[in-house]
Amino acid sequence: MSLADNESAQIPIIETVENARARIHQWKMAGESIAFVPTMGNFHQGHLALVKAANASGMRTVVSIFVNPMQFGKNEDLDTYPRSFDEDIASLSDCQVDMVFAPAVSEIYPDGVDGATAVHVRGLSDILEGEHRPGFFIGVATVVNMLFNIIQPDAAWFGEKDYQQLLVIRKMVRDLALPIEIHSVPTVREGDGLAMSSRNSYLDADQRKLAINLYRCLQHVVDSANEGMDYHYAVVHANQELTEAGFLTDYVVVRRQGDLEVPNKGDKSLIVLAAARLDGTRLIDNIPFELMPAR
Ligand code: PAF
Repeated sequence: MSLADNESAQIPIIETVENARARIHQWKMAGESIAFVPTMGNFHQGHLALVKAANASGMRTVVSIFVNPMQFGKNEDLDTYPRSFDEDIASLSDCQVDMVFAPAVSEIYPDGVDGATAVHVRGLSDILEGEHRPGFFIGVATVVNMLFNIIQPDAAWFGEKDYQQLLVIRKMVRDLALPIEIHSVPTVREGDGLAMSSRNSYLDADQRKLAINLYRCLQHVVDSANEGMDYHYAVVHANQELTEAGFLTDYVVVRRQGDLEVPNKGDKSLIVLAAARLDGTRLIDNIPFELMPAR
């Protein structure tokens, strides 16, 4: 990081919990409310959509940039995860950001990651992404809870691209009675439909062309359901198509939007979700949809 705790920079960048608390305290004493966007940096339009939505609330806007080691598995990409702090700060220039909180790992985990108290949102954390990335949602819930305690936001914004994460955060807020409104922003996509993600930068030109199949397969499941067909066949077909396109599929499933459980007969608000690897790069995507009455 090249910009230190710096009051004179255009956007104040705060690196310590103590300094963040001091500034938050001033705002709270002045009766101001706080809108919060937690991120791991490497901003794309998806992140900026979250910041703009937070801005539109009229509250003080705080963005955190912290690549959270607790949510990475031992064999995952913590070391290579794209970091672009200066570019990230520059890209916020069109937004009204009142503070960027960018702590070091030791600030968030003074006893080390393995020695830290952890938050487990039971059930929802252990299916789908949680099954394929054990411990991932414990890492997410722990850091988000900690960031909430430091920033004390009135509201926070999360992307629907990480749909299961959004539900995990909502459940954590409900279960722990945190006085924070959780808002979501729809997935922002590239022109060809690929969901924007920091991990897209791992794809080479050929993989980038193949990556679009993930969205196409999901859209096909939704189209089939909209045409009144049994989406189960479309899911099987999507799995085959992804394998043929060179993906190693972790899952393609249709679940209930509310809790990601297997739909019962009569459930209408559904979502198709997928996770698949293209060589070393793991991509996730989803499309929510409403099941039409049979024609
Ligand atoms: O979605 C992310 O970028 C991260 O999972 C989050 C919510 C910032 C927690 O580290």
